[in-house]
Amino acid sequence: MAYVSIEGLTKNFKGNPPTTAVDDLHLEIEEGEFLVLLGPSGCGKTTTLRCLAGLERPAEGRIVAGSSTVYDSARRVDVAPDKRSIGMVFQSYALWPHMTVRKNIRYPLAARHLRDKIKDGSVERIAEAVHCGGLLDRYPAQLSGGQQQRVALARGLVSEPDLVLFDEPLSNLDARLRQQVRAELHELHRTRPFTAVFVTHDQSEALSLGQRMAIMRTGTIEQIGNPREVFEHPVSDYVAEFIGMSERLELTRNGDGWSCDGQALEANGNHVPISAPAGVVRLRPDDLRLVEDLSLLRDNELGLEATVMDVSYGGRHLDVSVQLTGSDTRVNAQVSTKSSGGQLDRWATGERTVIAFELRNARYFELESSLAVAA
Ligand SMILES: Nc1ncnc2c1ncn2[C@@H]1O[C@H](COP(=O)(O)OP(=O)(O)O)[C@@H](O)[C@H]1O
Ligand SMILES: [Mg+2]
Repeated sequence: MAYVSIEGLTKNFKGNPPTTAVDDLHLEIEEGEFLVLLGPSGCGKTTTLRCLAGLERPAEGRIVAGSSTVYDSARRVDVAPDKRSIGMVFQSYALWPHMTVRKNIRYPLAARHLRDKIKDGSVERIAEAVHCGGLLDRYPAQLSGGQQQRVALARGLVSEPDLVLFDEPLSNLDARLRQQVRAELHELHRTRPFTAVFVTHDQSEALSLGQRMAIMRTGTIEQIGNPREVFEHPVSDYVAEFIGMSERLELTRNGDGWSCDGQALEANGNHVPISAPAGVVRLRPDDLRLVEDLSLLRDNELGLEATVMDVSYGGRHLDVSVQLTGSDTRVNAQVSTKSSGGQLDRWATGERTVIAFELRNARYFELESSLAVAA
C-alpha cells in the first residue's frame, strides 16, 4: 500500500471566472520516495501542496498520509495543519527574523511539544546535515540566501514528518547556489531518506531530484514515471514540450512520403510511424544539425531548407533560430561550438541553411489528440 495516497482531489476557487485549480487528481507516493511535481505556472502545483498540508480545503477527495486519513470529503475528515505530520519548505524562506537559527529549526518541535526530540540533539544533527552546524546562534539577517534556504530545509525536516513538501524552494537562489543546494538535498535524501513531494517548473531540477516525476497540466497529472521514462517517452505533445523537446514540426502525408509546410521530406529509408494523414514531430534543439545544403545530409537524416534569422552565443553552443523556407515556422537549433570546429561565424543572419535531424531522435504525436504514437 502506498504511504501517501491522494484520491480524486478537487479544489475550486471562486472568482471571475471560477478556477478548478486541482481537478480529480490521483497520486500515490511510496515511503521514502522523492516525487517531483513538474508543470508550468498556474497548473495547480502549489494548490495541490496546500491541500496536502491542510492549508486549503478541497471540494472533493481523500488524502491518506502515513497511517492517518487527513482529509476525506465523504466522511467529513479534515485534520488541522498542525495535527498533520507534514514538513514544509517554501520558495520564500519565511524564517522568523527575531529567532536564532537554532530556534527557527527547533520551532516545529516546540510547536508540537516534541520535547524529547529537542533534548536528543535532533536540531544539531539536522543542522549539521545541511551544513549549518556553525550558524546556530546567528539571526536570519546575518545569513546569505543559500544559508537561509538550508536553515529552511532543516526546519522542514527536523521533526522527521511523514511527508515533506517543497514548493520551488531553490528558485530564489542564484544559478550556482541552486546547483549546490540541489546536490546537497539529493545527498541528504540518499543518506537519510524521507518521503517528499517537490514542486518545480524547472525540468533539470525535476530530472535530477525526482525518483519519479509527475507532469501536471491544468490540475491533473498528464504523465508520471521515472525521469528517464518521461524524458525518453513523453506521452503527449504537451509533456514533450515541457521536458525540452521544444521544436515542433507538423508533417502531412505527401504521396508515399511526407511534407512539412509545403517542403517535401526525403524519407531516406526512415520510417515515420504516423498512420494519420498528419502528425506532429518533436525534437530537442541539440538534436538538430545545420548544414549548407541538402546534399550534405547523412544517410539517416532528413533535412528542411531554411533561413538563419538570429544567432546568439551560448558558450559551449550557439543558439541558431531559423525560419523554414516558404513558411513562418521557426525552429531553434543548438549547435555545439566544439563540433563546428570553433567556427563561430559560420552562420550569419539572412543566410540560407538546411536543418538536419535523425528521425530516431524525434517523438511523434497525433495532430488531433496530441497523444504519442509508438515509434
Ligand atoms: N487563492 C486563490 N484564489 C483564486 N484562484 C487561485 C487561488 N490560488 C490559486 N488560484 C488559481 O488556481 C490555479 C492554480 O494555481 P497554483 O496552484 O498556484 O499554480 P502553480 O503553483 O502551478 O503555479 C491558477 O489558475 C491560479 O490563478
Ligand atoms: Mg506555485
